[in-house]
Amino acid sequence: MIDLSTEYLGLKLDNPLVPSSSPLTGELDSARQLEDAGASALVLPSLFEEAIEQEQKQLERFVHSQALGHYEALSYQPVPEDYGSELDSYLERIQQFKSSLDIPVIASLNGISSSGWIDTGRELQQAGADALELNVYYIAADPGASGEEVENRYLQLLADLREHISIPVTMKLSSQFSSVANMVVKLQQAGARGVSLFNRFYQPDIDLESLEIKPHIELSSSMESLLRIRWIALLRGRVDLSIAATGGFHQTHDIIKALLVGADVTHLCSVLLQNGPQHISLLKQQLDSWLHEHEYESVTQMKGSVSQSCAINPAALEHCNYMHVIRSYGR
Ligand SMILES: Cc1cc2nc3c(=O)[nH]c(=O)nc-3n(C[C@H](O)[C@H](O)[C@H](O)COP(=O)(O)O)c2cc1C
Repeated sequence: MIDLSTEYLGLKLDNPLVPSSSPLTGELDSARQLEDAGASALVLPSLFEEAIEQEQKQLERFVHSQALGHYEALSYQPVPEDYGSELDSYLERIQQFKSSLDIPVIASLNGISSSGWIDTGRELQQAGADALELNVYYIAADPGASGEEVENRYLQLLADLREHISIPVTMKLSSQFSSVANMVVKLQQAGARGVSLFNRFYQPDIDLESLEIKPHIELSSSMESLLRIRWIALLRGRVDLSIAATGGFHQTHDIIKALLVGADVTHLCSVLLQNGPQHISLLKQQLDSWLHEHEYESVTQMKGSVSQSCAINPAALEHCNYMHVIRSYGR
């Protein structure tokens, strides 16, 4: 029997296959299917700061127009019957998932400012979330904002939350930092228990007829996992926090590589949207077989055995022999 168990954010998980935020992790039916197929934990879809802000503005408008008595005014907007639904239904979902599933449930917040998140974080914890993933989906588009200012936003948000909640907090990061490694160290110092590497930024497209910017979401491919694998290899052994590999993990071989370089878990989204929740059982079975064939007794034994700190040729991970690779094209 191969021991597939792993530790992630201080949680003992049955195996390293964790569905990341997606519509599949937001409904109890599909969450049950994920658990039945072998998912060892799941990350809920994010609660979005902008959605909560919008609700607050609606409430303010409502209170304001009531105070003025301008019910007939054009600007009057009634508060929808399901007012407060975003946060309330998120909390209800956590409670429902916790009472219906055996696996850990990780809540996810998407935003960049501390205001409001501290109370929200507390509520998520009270509702029973086992951990909290912060997805700081932030495009640093302001030419006046330095890299340090951008990084400080992340650090401040994390520090504020850590002060008020006790469940583990993990940061879902993009790869777009001047020094990813330094940023991860700073997050660890600020109290992060883990990082998810890396978030995918969705690229807006241009409609050539209407000349409008249109949102565009495309599922990932296996190739994207290589960026994650490289950075996890560089970090493992140098930082002391949990690492989730996210982005491009489709094939069992992608997952094995992530574990070999030191990921504690692999987050799965596109592959499950494409193949359905049951696909986890196939991945789990194939992972088990690979370990067996390669004479590993456990995931713990293989984890990190090819990270930079253990690699025979560490330089290969950093430079990847750039000149050689370029010159080898077409040969
Ligand atoms: C339809 C869809 C919805 C998603 N919703 C969220 C979300 O609410 N919060 C979040 O942090 N990531 C969200 N993601 C990102 C995924 O969790 C994941 O990080 C990303 O797709 C990369 O993993 P993959 O290559 O396995 O798809 C979403 C992705 C998709 C495709």
